[in-house]
Amino acid sequence: MKSLGFKEEFLWGGAVAANQCEGAWNINGKGVSTADVATAGSLSKQREYTDGIVEGKNYPSHEAIDFYHRYKEDVALLAEMGFKCFRTSINWTRIFPNGDEEIPNEDGLKFYDNLFDECLKYGIEPVVTISHYEMPYALVEKYGSWRNRKLVDFYMNYCKTIFKRYKDKVKYWMTFNEINVISIHPFIPAGIKFKEGENEKQVCYQAAHHQFIASALAVKLGKDINPDFKIGCMILFPQSYAETCNPKDVQASNEFMDNTYLFTDVQVRGYYTNKAKKFFERNNINIKMEDDDEKILKDGTVDFIGFSYYMTVVQTSRNDGEKSLGNMLGGVKNPYLQASDWGWQIDPEGFRIALNNLYDRYQIPLFCVENGLGAEDVVDDDGFINDDYRIEYLRRHIKEMKKAIEIDGVDLIGYTSWGCIDLISASTGEMKKRYGFIYVDKDNYGDGTLKRSKKKSFDWYKKVIETNGEVLE
Ligand code: BG6
Repeated sequence: MKSLGFKEEFLWGGAVAANQCEGAWNINGKGVSTADVATAGSLSKQREYTDGIVEGKNYPSHEAIDFYHRYKEDVALLAEMGFKCFRTSINWTRIFPNGDEEIPNEDGLKFYDNLFDECLKYGIEPVVTISHYEMPYALVEKYGSWRNRKLVDFYMNYCKTIFKRYKDKVKYWMTFNEINVISIHPFIPAGIKFKEGENEKQVCYQAAHHQFIASALAVKLGKDINPDFKIGCMILFPQSYAETCNPKDVQASNEFMDNTYLFTDVQVRGYYTNKAKKFFERNNINIKMEDDDEKILKDGTVDFIGFSYYMTVVQTSRNDGEKSLGNMLGGVKNPYLQASDWGWQIDPEGFRIALNNLYDRYQIPLFCVENGLGAEDVVDDDGFINDDYRIEYLRRHIKEMKKAIEIDGVDLIGYTSWGCIDLISASTGEMKKRYGFIYVDKDNYGDGTLKRSKKKSFDWYKKVIETNGEVLE
């Protein structure tokens, strides 16, 4: 009988983002990106997003883990773990340094040729995010970023360039990383800075509309260039629970989820629902649409839903609940769950619930492209890192993922754990918040040899992949 578990072709792997690992921020023609103006922070000190590069500030993306120069060594380690796929992103500013050029930067294109070839050499399928928390900073300064519809054209020129160039190397694409984060932190995914007195929600959702149009056009264009492309959206999926069975709490939780579903509804179903339109009305948001926009959205729906899952959140109708921290989102504390050292509430069973909710609603393939535990690792006297806590986190999540497939029939095509090699944290800019199977010798202050070494979880994950998820102990 056919296995009920992971399909033979299940895409096991890991994920990174260019701006959090590559470094080499200003060489070989690369321009300044929005990630390059983000300073180092911590849990208690927010990152600053400076106006351009300010001398004397510490910008972690500038060197990151120097993946740009060490990708061969790193990909070889991923291959040793048996990766079937590797999710990374293209740094837009390597290809178009300012974003509005017509001619791409050949050196940048060549770098990704080499990187993808290196992956393919080992049979690792590249999975590429087109814009992962970075874009040319010049587009922010010159055009006001995604608030301006011109960005759609610049993005399309970028997509056309990379789709054509890598059409025989890359099959899986995602248009924007965690597109829904624009409503929480508009600068990180969309380079939006507000002007005094403006309706911030109006700006955010208009910018989101431009990204929806760009994403839909990219799906269409990609398919014209290579009909075998699989192009997905990518959302941060914050599965929410009601604090109690008080209907008011349930309503609060539903409303919280509505703001996520607004994004997937447009990208998967191809339209704004009545509920989304009512939300706009209530908030004086008037989305300026062009004549063809409805058709563009309808014609450019995605092939799969890429999403990140780290934790769940709890919503309440009370005003006085003790807050929890979270991946850009909060909520109140869940007494049934433990939290990571960064306050993210660990919830493996929530993963199964999230997978079911997404699949029940949309009935298209899902791809979990981020999941993992950010933790501080300690190197022992023998130079070893015993990260049992990470193994435990991943094991419990993979078990629930397996149930979602085997018992519930969710169509999940792959799983890439976040930060398979240690990298810079997106929310805090720290190095010490590590996710990897591979340790990188570098600290929060930029000191260290950048030497790579295998953690205990390296061999564990290798076994998981080798046995197609059968051996998790
Ligand atoms: C996701 C992002 O939100 O979470 C990644 O797509 C990010 O870029 C990841 O790194 C983990 O968050 P953090 O803040 O721990 O790096």
